[in-house]
Amino acid sequence: MKQKHVFLQEGLITKSDRQRLNGHKSCVVWFTGLSGSGKSTLSVSLEQTLHHLNVRTYRLDGDNMRQRLNQDLGFSKRDREENIRRVGEVSKLFIDAGIITLAAFISPYKKDRDRIRSLLNEGEFIEVYVKCDVKECEKRDPKGLYQKARNGEISGFTGIDDPYEEPENPEIVVKTDQMTVEQCTEKILKYLKEKGYLT
Ligand code: PPS
Repeated sequence: MKQKHVFLQEGLITKSDRQRLNGHKSCVVWFTGLSGSGKSTLSVSLEQTLHHLNVRTYRLDGDNMRQRLNQDLGFSKRDREENIRRVGEVSKLFIDAGIITLAAFISPYKKDRDRIRSLLNEGEFIEVYVKCDVKECEKRDPKGLYQKARNGEISGFTGIDDPYEEPENPEIVVKTDQMTVEQCTEKILKYLKEKGYLT
């Protein structure tokens, strides 16, 4: 909803100025996938790699955001939509600040992910589908949540009794049940280099 008596304040320093100072472009690398698929692991690994290349980064992670900014939100369709909407807006601010932002959220609904894509400029949203068979995610079960979903302690758990809509045309797919963390990180890094984000 547009605010009526609110006016946009422009500064004198632009996104391009900040990018120039940083020596690279800015974008959001958006990791989407099931719980336990490896989104956070990959965003941590990619951030470390980029940092060592003198790239300015920041990570946004589902569990962390839900403890602070989004602590009022649960896991209904509506709350997940609002969660992703807010993270999209935060990502836009970080992009404006000239930072390569790494966002790791299940973001199970295509519509919510597509909304962020259209909120941002061309090339600023890099969708990474962290693809992993639900059986493998359940086997890993790093937080014991699949177990809880199976015995009814959690309802509406993604992949068990809540949907996950696979990306149709993601920029990158990493199959974490077939590739190592290093291989996945390298694949994303190669994309960023080839598309000119790091220069
Ligand atoms: S979403 O769907 O994008 O809004 O979710 P996200 O903000 O990424 O938060 C996912 C983490 O919340 C924990 N959790 C659940 N996930 C899915 N479904 C249900 N019902 C649920 N309840 C709690 C879980 O730790 C998720 O983290 P990851 O890293 O994905 O395992």
